[in-house]
Order: sequence, then structure tokens, then C-alpha cells
Amino acid sequence: MAGKLRPLRIPVNTFPTFRRQLSTTATRFSISSSPQIFHDVPPLRKYRRDLLLSNRTVGLVPTMGALHEGHLSLIRQAAAENTDVFISIYVNPTQFGLNEDLTSYPKTWESDLQLLRTLDEELASSSDNKGRITAVFAPSTTTMYPGYPPDSSIPGTGSFVTITPLSRLLEGASRPVFFRGVATVCMKLFNIATPDRVYFGQKDIQQTAVIKRMVQDFHLGTEVRIGPTAREADGLALSSRNVYLGARRRAVGIVLNQALRKAEAQYLAGKRKRADILWPANEHADNVLLEQDALGPRQRARFEVDYISLADPETMEEIEEVDETKGAVLSGAIKMLPIEESQEGEDLGVGGGRIAVRLIDNIVLEPLKV
Ligand code: PAJ
Repeated sequence: MAGKLRPLRIPVNTFPTFRRQLSTTATRFSISSSPQIFHDVPPLRKYRRDLLLSNRTVGLVPTMGALHEGHLSLIRQAAAENTDVFISIYVNPTQFGLNEDLTSYPKTWESDLQLLRTLDEELASSSDNKGRITAVFAPSTTTMYPGYPPDSSIPGTGSFVTITPLSRLLEGASRPVFFRGVATVCMKLFNIATPDRVYFGQKDIQQTAVIKRMVQDFHLGTEVRIGPTAREADGLALSSRNVYLGARRRAVGIVLNQALRKAEAQYLAGKRKRADILWPANEHADNVLLEQDALGPRQRARFEVDYISLADPETMEEIEEVDETKGAVLSGAIKMLPIEESQEGEDLGVGGGRIAVRLIDNIVLEPLKV
């Protein structure tokens, strides 16, 4: 039965704000600066209430900063569909397990703000966007977790939102507290900003399933919008963590996307059974792994495949056969292991090649139109 199948796991400040009148349709409501920075909840609430009373709409893009084109594409989408875009920048401790990369997660506040200002200028001068970035919410951890200090342990003391069994599958199997942390912080952000729409990237497809379920199950009055995955030219999905790869691991890291595309080709060629769809993906990952293992420690970039999955798009449970009316999700995760021996002058990325980098990716197998 589909529910019993398992995915294949191979062991192995405050910133000076500038004051400016909005020049678009938004001028009927005078916004003092764009974007304004908020660190605390009450001023953001007041700001949001004023927008509501002026019939403006808010699209919220939650992020952990270290912004890249994937984040920016979500913001553009939000600006096309709302008068006001709120961005939250907060590295949420409760979604990092005790042994995960919370302390090393990139924090680039100044350049993030610069990117947002530049994008906002672009939005201001574009004719097809109706919205602007009007608020950046950058709370402290005491603000976000006022009751208990944030707890990343598995029993976890504090107030949490848990969405099961979805949160235990795939990413949740390797990262047991991850989706509890994500759902909890997003519930907080949605309650603070009360957005009309929230924007999430398909890149983290299980996260989108968790958020959609949370919105439905808790009757949250917001619409969940999903933006496509932004990629490098060769197909590598953009991620804030890619800065740790360096050139050698970057070149090998494309294996995951290549493997998923091989599986997608099987679906597009009419295959519907799990084994028929997944075998070329597994074969490709195995071959690349063997190739790398055969090289010496000064040349190779080794990795472990965590899973390659074919799952139901709503429940993310493994399926034996694709139902053409529902489609399916192909997804995978690999861990790029630390560089064993470096070469003279080699680009090892941030962290000198010593930080293991988890890469995830997915492809949606669209339902067939009848
Ligand atoms: P973060 O990794 O910063 O991602 C913020 C948003 O950007 C997420 O919705 C994510 O799916 C999207 N995103 C990341 N890379 C993308 C890409 N290459 N293309 C399109 N969208 C992309 O996801 C989180 O933060 C956190 O879990 C968060 C939801 C903020 C809760 O803390």
C-alpha cells in the first residue's frame, strides 16, 4: 500500500529609513518610507491595521534572510498581487535541530536590505506591478518566543504547532523538529501580519504542503500562493546554503536535479509505476557516486543520498503508481560531505569546505488534463 512505502534512503539596528511618497496607485495612502523596518510587534500591527482601513492588501513573504533570486521572485509575485508586500527576515531557531547549522546559517542583513531597496525601486518604476515593499519585519528571538526560550529538542517545551503525519515524512524523517519549527514560526508571523496572501517557494515543496494544511486546519484567513523554483543555468536550485559548496561540490551537487529530471522524463514518456519512474534517477545517483569515490581525496566531492521519493502531492506519502488526475511529486535530498583534501588556491566556498551541505530539490509531475 502506498502509505507503507518508504522513500529510498541510501545510508550512507535600526536602519536609517528614507522618507518618500509612493508614486504608484498607492499615493492615496501616504506611506512614510519604503520599506519601513519593524523589530517589534505592536508598531507592525498598527501599520497593518491602517493599511486594512485603507482597503490595501498585504502579501507576506517569510524568509530567513541571505536573500537570493528565489526570494526576490516570490516578492515580485507578491507585488503583482497585493498593494503592500511585507518581508520577514528571521532565522528561526526552533526549526534547526540541536546538531544542525543554526550558528553557521548565513546572516547578511545589510546586503539583504540593499537588495530589497533595489527591488523596491524596480517595482516603483514598473508599470505592471501594483505593489511595493512597504514593511520588513526583523524581530528578535525574545519577541518571537515571549513565553519560553526557543527549544529545539524533540520533546520541546513551549507552544508549538505540529502537523502530522506530514511533518514526519521525507525532510521530517531526517530533521525531526524542522516542520514543527516552521509551522510554529509561520503561525506567529501570520498572526502578527494578518496577510491577505502568503508566498512560499516550490523549492521547499513539503514546507508548502505543511503550510497549506496548517492554513486549512486552523481556519487561517489567508491565501497560500506558491512560486516556481528559481535555478542556476544548469538547473541547480538556488539556496541560501549554496555559498558553502565551493566549486568542486557545486559541480557535483547538480547530480540531484539531473537524477530527478531523468525520473521526470519517464513520467513524460508515459510511465506511471514507481519502479519505472525512479530507476533512472537512482542509477544516475549511484553512477556519480561511484565516479566520485574512484577519484582521489584531492579531486572528489562525495555525497550521501538521503532519499529520492515519488509521493502524493498533498500527503507527501510514497505512492506505488501515479494517479494521472492528481499527478505526483518527485523529490530528493543529498548531503554533500566536507571536502577531504583541498588543492592550492581552490575555491572551497564559505566555511572552507568543512561544512556538510544538504541539498534538496523537487519536480512536480503535473496531472494530465482531461
Ligand atoms: P528561506 O529558506 O529563507 O526561504 C524563504 C522562502 O523562499 C521559502 O518559501 C522558500 O521556499 C523560498 N525559496 C528558497 N529558495 C528558493 C528558490 N530557489 N526558488 C523559489 N523559492 C525559493 O523557507 C524558509 O526560509 C523558512 O523555513 C521560513 C518559511 C521563513 C520559516 O522560518
